[in-house]
Amino acid sequence: GAVSAFAPASVGNIGVGFDLLGHAVDGPRDIATVRRIDAPAVRIDSIDGDIAGVERLPLEAARNTAGGALLALRDALDLPFGFALSLHKGIPLGSGLGGSAASCVAALVAANALLDAPLPREALYGFALDGEVLSSGSRHGDNVAPMLLGGVTVATASRALRIEVPSWLHAVVVHPDQVLETRRSRAVLAEPYRLPDLVQQTAHLAQFLLGLQRGDAELIRDGLRDVLVEPRRAPLIPGFAAVKAAALDHGALGSSISGGGPSVFAWFASREQAERAAPAMREGFVDAGFDARAYVTPV
Ligand code: HSE
Repeated sequence: GAVSAFAPASVGNIGVGFDLLGHAVDGPRDIATVRRIDAPAVRIDSIDGDIAGVERLPLEAARNTAGGALLALRDALDLPFGFALSLHKGIPLGSGLGGSAASCVAALVAANALLDAPLPREALYGFALDGEVLSSGSRHGDNVAPMLLGGVTVATASRALRIEVPSWLHAVVVHPDQVLETRRSRAVLAEPYRLPDLVQQTAHLAQFLLGLQRGDAELIRDGLRDVLVEPRRAPLIPGFAAVKAAALDHGALGSSISGGGPSVFAWFASREQAERAAPAMREGFVDAGFDARAYVTPV
């Protein structure tokens, strides 16, 4: 029989942990349906969904993030069978919500359930990175890790680790009707960084992680400041400054770009605060001339 699995959207980087931190979002999701086939191959039968550009996604397995991940799984385990895959995309492409990562995670989770001896979630991480690299050209796990494990994660080259966080933490994620390709938002980071800036970012990251561990909102607030990536990417996102200002006006612990953008996130110390801030943050994009959707989610 066929197995279906979903993967949620995610906020990559969480501002202060470029290519390292991420958290899952209770909002849009991608669904993969996978069957075993006798042929030792991976075949994509269909890709549909209600997002722009879905018809441009490659059906050729080796060029598709989900197909590539299943090929990597099949080859690594030397499986005597293959997989047929259908994808339903719900996460907009070029949104900064991990739209490319989600399909490969959903496909891996579904395919794993079809194995005679399914692997633990963490063991799927490397295959998810094999899929992610096909879309972004870079092997970073900040989106796939929270999609696999849920919650807030640290994603290194070899490990995906879940961090327990206080239950009062909530995020607002606002997705404007703009597209920003990951490759373009990474290109603006090519110039070298100064060591003092790296030291400052490292200090923020340390405060942020200790704040999470201690459940200390003020430590999280001190840490949730990106001095490296946001200054270079913000000019690519019309409305960013207004959305962030609205978040901070409503008491956000911090606000920055979700993944490669253009979506923007903010963290709050309660669901009520997040719910009050969400419409104001959305207005920031509307005032800049873009339709936008806001999601409120536990982190
Ligand atoms: N960490 C990545 C970036 C996320 O910011 O470019 C997008 O894939």
